[in-house]
Amino acid sequence: MNTKTRSKKKLQVVILAAGKGTRMYSNLPKVLHKLAGKSLVEHVIESAEELKAESISLIYGHGGEQVKNLLIDRQLIWCEQKEQLGTGHAVQQAIDTVDDSANVLILYGDVPLLSSETLNKLLAAKQSSSIALLTANLDDPQGYGRIVRNSESKIEKIVEQKDASEAIKQITEINTGVMVVDGDKLKQWLIRIGNNNAQGEYYLTDLIELAIVEGEVVQSCIVDDNKEIEGINNKIQLAELEREYQKRQAYRLMKEGVTLRDPSRFDLRGTIEVGHDVIIDINVIIEGHCKIGSNVTIGANTIIKDITIDDNVEILENCILDKSTIANGCHIGPFSRLRPDTKLDDNAKVGNFVEIKKSHIAKGSKVNHLSYIGDTEMGENVNIGAGTITCNYDGAYKHLTKIGDNAFIGSNTALVAPIEIGHGATIGAGSTLSRNAEADKLTFTRAGQKTLDGWKRPSKQK
Ligand code: UD1
Ligand code: CA
Repeated sequence: MNTKTRSKKKLQVVILAAGKGTRMYSNLPKVLHKLAGKSLVEHVIESAEELKAESISLIYGHGGEQVKNLLIDRQLIWCEQKEQLGTGHAVQQAIDTVDDSANVLILYGDVPLLSSETLNKLLAAKQSSSIALLTANLDDPQGYGRIVRNSESKIEKIVEQKDASEAIKQITEINTGVMVVDGDKLKQWLIRIGNNNAQGEYYLTDLIELAIVEGEVVQSCIVDDNKEIEGINNKIQLAELEREYQKRQAYRLMKEGVTLRDPSRFDLRGTIEVGHDVIIDINVIIEGHCKIGSNVTIGANTIIKDITIDDNVEILENCILDKSTIANGCHIGPFSRLRPDTKLDDNAKVGNFVEIKKSHIAKGSKVNHLSYIGDTEMGENVNIGAGTITCNYDGAYKHLTKIGDNAFIGSNTALVAPIEIGHGATIGAGSTLSRNAEADKLTFTRAGQKTLDGWKRPSKQK
């Protein structure tokens, strides 16, 4: 269902996020805990943004500074709730930010999976009435407010678990807490809510009875997928919803043709674009925004973050690749690390225990074993021997290493930057170079080899 089917009224969103989250046992406010690499409240904000809400008011309380710091760049109206006196009191804190003529949608900062599709259904269900609730049918409704309907199936009231009789506790239709209310009605009803109940709180749910007294019909929409309305109160629920979210992403990718060796061992903490014939082995973590071309394999236990990978690339096991660009036909790993600002051109090879930082490796060049390449501009078809180190840091400044096309660097070489190795130069194994090496010549620094006659290895006396 799209936004066209809902009423023409403008939409304003209020997100409740003042709770501490006592059962998280954390110094971080609950809504800042992350699901798939993004804070819970940001998931909710993004759903509201997808609905094209005209404004989003965020009710904050516990850890307010931390919440503000994280969300500083977002378009939000900040409403402080100094004391958490209940959901009705929370919404009251945002009352001046809503317009009489708006549809006001109430969301919760700790309910991350609620989709904009479901919310659009709720908005459509509201029709011409003043209020609509999102409800759910649960096998185990324990803890939730119960929806009480009359003989004509019309909603009469919501009774909280703590205020419920045994008969009401048998009801399996529950209040998700999510509702949409006319701005003017919300204002009129909220000021009339009291706190005469088992928890001594101002219950937002008391709006229902006030609406009915005024002869309103309380509309409702039952959520299709109960995972969408689950809130997070502890680390078990956080982990369960994380897995659920990951499973959904994994299935979506498999439907698009990605081969996942095991969707239960796949983590996408961000977004990806993929081509055809992409194979991802187990325990791969993808963060930030990654672009993956066609015919790409990613080996087990690899972490990629903000990476662009072109076609025909093979990444073997246990690599960590961060903010880098990998061109067509490259081979990487196992155990390779690409640090930010690394660019590999076509058919480059980076092998075992190689770290590359802020470097450009041109076409066909190979760094196959045990090397550190930093701040380097490397030409085409260069061969870097095992154990080569670019000594890029003098303790105060970073310096550049330039290596020309077709150079051959022997194993265990230290290149003390700034330095330039000419094209076609050959560097003898074991050299420490602190001056430039000329093109097409052999350069080496090496102590002479000696053999001592008559030397005896020390041995223990019997
Ligand atoms: C509420 C509903 C209940 C529903 C359930 C769904 C009320 C009275 N009850 O109960 O019918 O089944 O949600 O989960 O609304 N919050 C604030 N400020 C407050 C109080 C709460 O920001 O003063 C936030 C909390 O951080 C939390 C959310 O609102 O994210 C829900 O509050 P909570 O007290 O947990 O409501 P429930 O008792 O679960
Ligand atoms: Ca409560």
